[in-house]
Amino acid sequence: MSDTMTPQRYGSNAGQPLTRRDGLAKVTGTATFAADNTPEGLLYAVYVPAAIARGRVVHLNVEAATAVAGVTHVMTPQNRPPLQGDPEAKPNGFSFIVDVLQNDGVRYAGQPIALVVGETLEAATEGARLLAPRYEVADSETTLAGQGGEAVEPGAFGRPGGAEHGDVPAGHAAAVSAIDVVYETPAQYHNAMETHAVVAAWDGDRLHLDLPSQALSLSCASYAYFFGIPADNVTIRCPYIGGGFGSKAFPTGPQVLAILAARTAGRPVKLMLTRAQMFGPVGHRGATRQRLRLGIDGGAALTVLDHEGTAATSRFDDFIEPAANASQGLYAAEALRSAHRAVRLDVGTPGPMRAPGEASGSAALECAMDEMALLAGLDPLKFRLRNYAEVEPGTGKPYSSKALRACYAEGAKRFGWADRPMEPGRMRDARGLLTGWGMGTALFGCPMFEAEATATLRADGSALVETSAIDMGQGAWTALAQIAADSLGLPMDRVEFRAGHSSLPNAGIAGGSGHTATAGGALHAAGRDAIRKLGEIAAADPDSPLHGSGNADFTARDGRLYVAGDDSRSEDFAAILSRAGAVDLTGAGSASRPAADAEAHAMNSHGAVFAEVKVDPDLCQVRVTRLVGAFAAGRIINPRLTESQLMGGMIWGISFALHEEAKHDPRSGRIMNADLAGYHVPVNADVRGLEVLTIHEDDPYVNALGIKGVGEIGVTGTVGAIANAIWHATGKRARRFPIRIEDLL
Ligand code: MOS
Repeated sequence: MSDTMTPQRYGSNAGQPLTRRDGLAKVTGTATFAADNTPEGLLYAVYVPAAIARGRVVHLNVEAATAVAGVTHVMTPQNRPPLQGDPEAKPNGFSFIVDVLQNDGVRYAGQPIALVVGETLEAATEGARLLAPRYEVADSETTLAGQGGEAVEPGAFGRPGGAEHGDVPAGHAAAVSAIDVVYETPAQYHNAMETHAVVAAWDGDRLHLDLPSQALSLSCASYAYFFGIPADNVTIRCPYIGGGFGSKAFPTGPQVLAILAARTAGRPVKLMLTRAQMFGPVGHRGATRQRLRLGIDGGAALTVLDHEGTAATSRFDDFIEPAANASQGLYAAEALRSAHRAVRLDVGTPGPMRAPGEASGSAALECAMDEMALLAGLDPLKFRLRNYAEVEPGTGKPYSSKALRACYAEGAKRFGWADRPMEPGRMRDARGLLTGWGMGTALFGCPMFEAEATATLRADGSALVETSAIDMGQGAWTALAQIAADSLGLPMDRVEFRAGHSSLPNAGIAGGSGHTATAGGALHAAGRDAIRKLGEIAAADPDSPLHGSGNADFTARDGRLYVAGDDSRSEDFAAILSRAGAVDLTGAGSASRPAADAEAHAMNSHGAVFAEVKVDPDLCQVRVTRLVGAFAAGRIINPRLTESQLMGGMIWGISFALHEEAKHDPRSGRIMNADLAGYHVPVNADVRGLEVLTIHEDDPYVNALGIKGVGEIGVTGTVGAIANAIWHATGKRARRFPIRIEDLL
């Protein structure tokens, strides 16, 4: 707890807007991503995806493929060597069933039906082309359409629970004004810039992988499960990841097959999926249909907030987008209900994708709040403030911290919200474009995972810190190195930071926006441990100015150790260590959130997003011209990188609102736009006037450093803000995403 209260005074590196430590290597092309590795004797694998959504493969022309010069192996369900772990089961509580040629059945388009291996990529590609699969096609269903689905039994990973607080029927009955609306969100695909890849090399029963993974330790355990070897026998090297967004936290079928091919061949194998192959076997955000029933009393207070999400998932595994949970933590309502239903389709299993649940849930909720505000006759921001939750709705738990009011106020001020006319269609710009302003509230949880780190003070007074943390472009390594340096009281250039390899202490999962809090918490604890041990040495040493201060707390800055609160007594690290025999001194630490603090509080990052759109009155073309997001997310370690993360999230919001959608061909069940030409994401010209404010927030409960998380919250709030701005510009309420021109005609 004493650590908990020090954030204001913490370190000199944290809080600095440093540029990325890996930036130069990335922009100069010297950064080595997984598929950039070409070990001696490398073979190339090409993935063969099913072109139908349901049925059976009845013929593959293996002879023709094998006859191609340079093709070494064609793996099909007929000759696929056994795996030690059952692919229809799951290796751990945070994984999916993988498709690895179990049989000749097809359960979604994009599922593996073969893997072709060759001496060159060209040979394997030609072999794959010649396989010319023939299918027995069964009818498939790939869209939610009007299907009601089944109620979700909450339980294992991927099956969200619901919640019910208060008397929901009474809340409906008590409403003097109510809405009952349905919003739809489409299937979306992560589309990280780096597609999924692996370079697998076996050495006896040891497996070395170059593999982008958001969860090194869990991935090692999962691959160990499939191949029947101890987890310690698997090493993953992962110095760079070209984006993950949730899709790279889990083992995938294609990667398991490539590893299997390497074992069969006795040679290293590389597999890199094409962009099109990413649409199926590596997860996506499932489509949803969400029904929101809101009611208010005569004073515009919510009597009920009733959110039912129906989400698409696969036939054989579970990940049900937990959209309705977005309504749990946000607005005070006398009665509150969230529930989930699942519709099983002939699609690959969805998975977590940036702000899973909250992104799609908040899109619908924030629009519904806008609709309710209109009926209440209140400005949308005033309506939200009218229903501001001082404690967590339903549970009554206090928030560990919640500077949402300040987010609203600062964001509104910067945006100029006070000048917004209530009526839609009242604003036009100089060119005659309809102009609209909308807003939305942002919310995301701040989980932490288990993690460890070590910090070693070297005899020369420099340090080495180690944890297996990964950086998928978010700047984690930079922020983490800042934390590590501060925990040791050293300038950045005296701290060697090692990360990105599974042999280092487990840094947990880079997900849930919790990586900095998690790995940073472990690094902080490790550094503090090293400093404490150094203090013990100095206190016991009669030659040290710190002698005899054994019961004191020690602090460190600029490579000197101090008795806390007493600047007159200090000594250089190197001097202490040199008298002790020039030994290295290692501290160890783990990430933690005291269980009592976690139990007693609701913990979230919050924000408010304000959007301006312009709509052509004749063509109904929409442009987002301004976005202001104000976010409170606890301690900000690196303002530059945080701003980038939040901006990135807000751009995802633009994408969600106006661009992204995977479209299935109803005849084949295939995705028709499985490339970046057809699957639209915003480009620079679609993104202008983006502004991020971070609101100061001290949180004494989330963790020792008061860090929440900024990776995902930017998506939430933004989608609704844009949709609401479109309504304000046009008076037309679109209830499906992405919002299209034809929705506004
Ligand atoms: Mo995120 S969807 O937890 O990588």
